[in-house]
Amino acid sequence: MKKHILIVPGDGIGQEVTAVGKKVLDKIAAKFGHEFTYDSALIGHVAIEATGNPLPEETLQKMKSSDAVLFGAVGHPKYDNDPTAKVRPEQGLLKMRKELGLYANLRPIKLFDELLSASSIKPEILKGADILFFRELTGDIYFGEKGRKNNGDTAFDMAEYSRYEVERIARKAFEAAMTRKKKLCSVDKANVLETSRLWREVVQKVALEYPEVEVEHQFVDATAMLLIKDPCRFDVVVTANLFGDILTDEASQIAGSMGMLASASIGDGTGVYEPIHGSAHDITGKGVANPLASILSAALLLDISFGLKAESDALINAVDKVLKAGFRTRDIADSQTASNMVLGTEAMGEQVL
Ligand code: NAI
Ligand code: MG
Repeated sequence: MKKHILIVPGDGIGQEVTAVGKKVLDKIAAKFGHEFTYDSALIGHVAIEATGNPLPEETLQKMKSSDAVLFGAVGHPKYDNDPTAKVRPEQGLLKMRKELGLYANLRPIKLFDELLSASSIKPEILKGADILFFRELTGDIYFGEKGRKNNGDTAFDMAEYSRYEVERIARKAFEAAMTRKKKLCSVDKANVLETSRLWREVVQKVALEYPEVEVEHQFVDATAMLLIKDPCRFDVVVTANLFGDILTDEASQIAGSMGMLASASIGDGTGVYEPIHGSAHDITGKGVANPLASILSAALLLDISFGLKAESDALINAVDKVLKAGFRTRDIADSQTASNMVLGTEAMGEQVL
């Protein structure tokens, strides 16, 4: 199979982990006889430094003409500590999602058995946890009108959802539920928010098309608690942009670390595959970032954008083997891990290769 992949490392550890992600894609191509070609492009802080624009037109065009995008992260402390900055790396990320119509963000939360002890949650509660989140990605409070009034003393962010936007993400989630345990949890805050009441109404309506799927509706605050109390009760979870952002960072602890979680953003055009973590400035340049989230993102890319299930599974199995052999990056090591088994970013990548 011939495919063209765009590598968009972005900022901070995004650079370090996508370099490893690309290497494993290369290895898969060689092993399975595919021809993958690559290009790279700028986004985020590095793009602002080079062009003044967090998502240069050239990057966007390259994304649109590629078969898939392997993405790193955006963000720089310079902006995090300057609330008045008008041009920000995150604008590049949001614009990319909007322009490519990436309305569905899939975040599989799966705990590799070997990492049971790496989590801060008790092993007996965690064992068997396997959740697939569908986070809506192009609506909600992130994209609504925002601004200041009263001479800047009052700030506002508008949350907005249309029936159409809720319906298409709900349908994706139901389709996935049909291929899994036929269980779906829709998360909202319908007791307070109007957008959530529309959300619930639409999910209830879509549910009629999938009578085999057992549906429950939970409030987001209760879900935050249930995720830690009893993660195994969830299978497919569908939720709005903001709730999904927060709940999946929380759920990353089920998988042991932010450094383990991959995501797929799909919609109308090119799919974008990225770790859920950010640019992690606290560890940038130290060579200790966990590359497994990027590697597992590459596995999602192979499966979802290219339909290469065997290749995707081969990659996941390789990760599993490396963990079984006892290798860890710092973020997933525990007190039992011998110091010679704690690897840096590149060395961990080499083990998987
Ligand atoms: P973060 O996800 O970058 O880091 C949170 C914590 O997890 C840090 O302690 C970090 O060291 C650790 N961590 C993250 N990824 C890791 C990995 N692969 N291996 C080992 N440890 C890892 O979130 P934070 O610190 O809140 O934000 C840093 C910057 O990233 C900010 O500028 C933020 O805006 C941006 N950001 C970007 C995202 C994206 O591009 N999708 C998502 C989240 C944050
Ligand atoms: Mg986030």
